[in-house]
Amino acid sequence: MKISFTEPELPRCGAVVVGVWEGKVLTPAARRLDEAAAGAITRALAAASRFSGKKDELLPIIGPANLSVSRIVLAGLGKPESPDSRSFQQLGGNLVAHLNGAGEEEATLMIDVAEGASIGATDAAAELAFGAQLRSYRFDKYKTKQKPEQKPSLNRLTVATSGAKGAKRAYQPLEKAAEAVFLTRDLVSEPANVIYPETLAAEAARLAELGVDVEILDEHKMRDLGMNALLAVGQGSARPPRVVVMQWNGANDSGGARSQPLAFVGKGVTFDTGGISIKPAAGMGDMKWDMAGSAVVIGLMRLLAARNAPVNAVGVVGLVENMPSGTAQRPGDIVTSMSGQTIEVLNTDAEGRLVLADALWYCQDRFKPRLMIDLATLTGAVIVALGHHQAGLFSNNDQLAERLVEAGKAVGEQVWRLPLAESYDREIDSDAADVKNIGGGRAAGSIIGAQFVQRFVNEVPWAHLDIAGTAWSTKDAPTVPKGATAFGVRLLDRFVSNYYEKD
Ligand code: BES
Ligand code: MN
Ligand code: ZN
Repeated sequence: MKISFTEPELPRCGAVVVGVWEGKVLTPAARRLDEAAAGAITRALAAASRFSGKKDELLPIIGPANLSVSRIVLAGLGKPESPDSRSFQQLGGNLVAHLNGAGEEEATLMIDVAEGASIGATDAAAELAFGAQLRSYRFDKYKTKQKPEQKPSLNRLTVATSGAKGAKRAYQPLEKAAEAVFLTRDLVSEPANVIYPETLAAEAARLAELGVDVEILDEHKMRDLGMNALLAVGQGSARPPRVVVMQWNGANDSGGARSQPLAFVGKGVTFDTGGISIKPAAGMGDMKWDMAGSAVVIGLMRLLAARNAPVNAVGVVGLVENMPSGTAQRPGDIVTSMSGQTIEVLNTDAEGRLVLADALWYCQDRFKPRLMIDLATLTGAVIVALGHHQAGLFSNNDQLAERLVEAGKAVGEQVWRLPLAESYDREIDSDAADVKNIGGGRAAGSIIGAQFVQRFVNEVPWAHLDIAGTAWSTKDAPTVPKGATAFGVRLLDRFVSNYYEKD
């Protein structure tokens, strides 16, 4: 879908969308269009008993006889002063879905912003375009028999606003964000026969084109480093594991306080069968997206580089396939992690934490980061706790946790903090080793997972995001079509830009 910006002018063809405020109050553009359409909007509104101009309401009107446009869509904006950047994104997304459903090929959005709103017209136009773009994502490369009517129809979207040049400029960083989100969604959507440790590492290596310094650690290097916990997860697979280190140095502050990087660490289990503690067959295909944490880190690093973020950041992803075989690790095995701590692996399906243990240790040991945030589809239990609405947040630092909560609210990727405490930690004391990889039962599974991860984190401010419930969606949402969500890319980009790019 091609997006462009123009000065307001009634289009000659395609659909045209104008806003209506709550209580059926026409915006200026709607009033002008109503005049041009000889009162067609006023008549349609009078007849509409289910449309009053509330947020998220849409009312299509067939193209009036005296105009050449194919249809008019009235978009409810709610109270004049209430729309914010997020609501314009959502409107843009909802409109794309609506217009595709209607088979429209072209559309022009003429959405006014009221004087008292918290956002100006230029930014509103850019956010509309951003939401539209985010919703237009499709992963259909393997569908070879789609009929034209099964493909999205909308191929040109024009956002009309006075100050179109400024809107276009405001859209540029958002377009980069959408590209990063799409990269993450693509990587997460790809099946495990296509994306496995080596190919995922190769995808990450492409960030070098944008100025990211990328290193790939192979098995030998990992063995030399002592990453035996991560290696143990991969030892049952024919696909060798990889660790990828991505560095973006945009801060220009060598030796200063801001030279210490922000660190992002991702779980990249390219397929999780459970290993010898094998999962049931039903739904196992979902475990192709058990590498979502790593894909978010890759997308985030791409975005920081693409928008030339004035910050130093490092991304570390642990890539491994968890398979049962004659070489797989067994329940009861004891491995010595890079930290030196020994781990009793009582359930080979609790593998993500083993990957994170070595990836986090390596990251803090080598980079001495200012803070460290990991993302992982770590536990089914976080879905029991929070469903698919919010990700689980765990942190050893209140300020870091609050910043993540705020950034999440701002972009619509919400996180909810859950506790860490010594009493939970005791549940992973092992009789045979320093720590075991599961607790005693099913209770507090996400907290137990987080406690395990924390054993491999030293004094550094750290947060763990359990994205098992939010990485993939089975329902369309305004700016996220069903499938891979890329949850975390926009959240962490906002987190970085809000708090770490200015002094
Ligand atoms: N990758 C899974 C967690 C998961 C479940 C992600 C559902 C997305 C959707 C993880 O490796 C896992 O298997 N966790 C186990 C931990 C248990 C064995 C302690 C789980 O959640 O059952
Ligand atoms: Mn597992
Ligand atoms: Zn897993």
